[in-house]
Amino acid sequence: MAESMKGLKRTHRCGELSAANVGEEVTVMGWVQKQRNKGGIIFVDMRDRAGLLQVIFEESDCGAENFEKAYHLRSEFVIAVVGKVCKREGAVNDNLATGEIEIRATQLRVLSESDTPPFPIEADSKTKEELRLKYRYLDLRRPDIQNNLILRSKIATTTRAFLAEEGFLEIETPMLCKSTPEGARDYLVPSRVHPGHFYALPQSPQIFKQLLMCSGYDRYFQLAKCFRDEDLRADRQPEFTQVDLEMSFVDVDDVIDATERMVQRVCKEAIGLDVQLPIQRMTWQDAMDRFGSDKPDTRFGMELTDVSEVVKGCGFGVFTGAIENGGSVRGITVKGQAEMPRKKIDALTAFVKDYGAKGLAYLSIQADGSYKSSFAKFMTEEELKALSEAMGAEAGDLMFFAADKNSVVWASLGALRIEVAKQLDMIDNDKFNFLWVTEFPLLEWNEEADRFVAMHHPFTMPMDEDLQYLESDPGRVRAKAYDIVLNGVELGGGSVRIFQNDVQEKMFKVLGFTMEQAYNQFGFLLNAFKYGVPPHAGLAIGLDRFVMLLVKADNIREVIAFPKVKDASCLMTEAPSTVADAQLQELYLELTPVEEAAKEAE
Ligand code: AMO
Ligand code: AMP
Repeated sequence: MAESMKGLKRTHRCGELSAANVGEEVTVMGWVQKQRNKGGIIFVDMRDRAGLLQVIFEESDCGAENFEKAYHLRSEFVIAVVGKVCKREGAVNDNLATGEIEIRATQLRVLSESDTPPFPIEADSKTKEELRLKYRYLDLRRPDIQNNLILRSKIATTTRAFLAEEGFLEIETPMLCKSTPEGARDYLVPSRVHPGHFYALPQSPQIFKQLLMCSGYDRYFQLAKCFRDEDLRADRQPEFTQVDLEMSFVDVDDVIDATERMVQRVCKEAIGLDVQLPIQRMTWQDAMDRFGSDKPDTRFGMELTDVSEVVKGCGFGVFTGAIENGGSVRGITVKGQAEMPRKKIDALTAFVKDYGAKGLAYLSIQADGSYKSSFAKFMTEEELKALSEAMGAEAGDLMFFAADKNSVVWASLGALRIEVAKQLDMIDNDKFNFLWVTEFPLLEWNEEADRFVAMHHPFTMPMDEDLQYLESDPGRVRAKAYDIVLNGVELGGGSVRIFQNDVQEKMFKVLGFTMEQAYNQFGFLLNAFKYGVPPHAGLAIGLDRFVMLLVKADNIREVIAFPKVKDASCLMTEAPSTVADAQLQELYLELTPVEEAAKEAE
């Protein structure tokens, strides 16, 4: 039976009490973690978001009625306790913040009872994630998730405080937007008032923040909800939050400067981490050449080496063929792994095939100086020696090579480098390596669409010296675009924006838009540019990813209160769901047979 709180007022959170409170009478409220009955004494561990507290019930302190109630307490009951803070009589618990004290209860009220929860509420849960997510409201009681969300709140607060101090205005932009075809797939919302018309949920506030610059707001920020219907991974959710900002009258360095000071402040206040400024910068080309990735993990070496020059005349057709087709041969050297078993090498070969590689060639130098290799028979001893030297390999080392077009070589060796480092435990998990990657290509060729697509987005400014090639040789144009990378994860990205109509129109043309299509989609932006637009630039940091990396979670779901799983469904609410026919009719929507079948199959 639930009792009322009447007449009681909470004085402290459970986990906030310490030896400094000894002697005080306090009122605490929270959940029963555990109740142990030791004959004449009942021990209750009480929990709230601040931590655990030990409460002692003895009939001589609390009277028969309260003792009887304490006797019936079970896990997850919500209780209010009035009592006195005492030094612990039993063993001090160094693992608990409140480990030196206990409360000798004088009053107990059972505010609500609980069924037996489907899994224990505890840190480092062994419970399957599906079950945890189905009962997310219980999962969210666990201290590790609570700490993640408390830290997330702190990061958001610090971010807001920093940006406000720097003169940024927090302005909200719409959730019901116009669909734009660039980027990821949109989530659509049908309009009831306009049959056959749809809103799109924003993939980012990009165009609105640029318009705010046109309107003179100068510095804008928002902790913005964004929606993207894309395949989910460990660091991706269909809805996520950006720390989104935009500045007027600035260039690349100004955005980088504001962002890194923000990151520095957040890291210091959230986890006490000192980030040294300026953060290292690397061009996209260097990042690809050295790490095979535009988001290099610089916590370990094992960088790529281009050996095309060394092997271009050798007898191994896989290598020479790739070079003749305009590709390259590159490799990584794995120190001390000459003895890596064949089975492991085969597994790594299968691994790189996911990245488009047709194979993985290897060469090892045995302790006696002899070579072991998948391609030794195609090369002379001198050629093997020259190759090993170019790779900086010595006796005992293993080398892997990929030969293909550059994009495939980078993707496969970039991924292999990380995989090998993980397997060999080469990554120092205490490091926080920030990096700026700059000078991205403006465009990338999309084979499927048979046209160029914007690497960042269509509003990104070409670098001044490359602007002249925008129409004649679009592929070589670099952009005033930058990403901030943390430990091999893309934390955020942004760019200087095009602010001249003629450049923006050229850009749309290169992307394959007719002017009519461009005006149809982005007319309001192109028109706004006709009325006095300041040069502007900005960036967005993925807040969820930032929190994930700072708390060292291995999945973004651990830092989101109500996340979705891989197929973009919510296991707790069972969204998405079918809707009543009446709702569909109201929206003038009819389901196609495929969806009807899916509906019936449920
Ligand atoms: P971009 O598309 O690079 O840039 O996104 C910025 C950052 O948002 C985060 N992010 C995600 N986080 C979780 N789940 C996702 N599905 C997801 N997608 C992106 C990443 C990423 O670096 N409007 C531009 C920014 C700008 O130019 O100012 C933009 O959205 O951390
Ligand atoms: P093959 O002559 O096809 O049997 O290949 C000989 C070796 O070269 C094997 O170890 C293959 O895994 C490797 N190999 C094949 N294609 C490539 C490639 N594109 N890049 C690197 N190694 C390759």
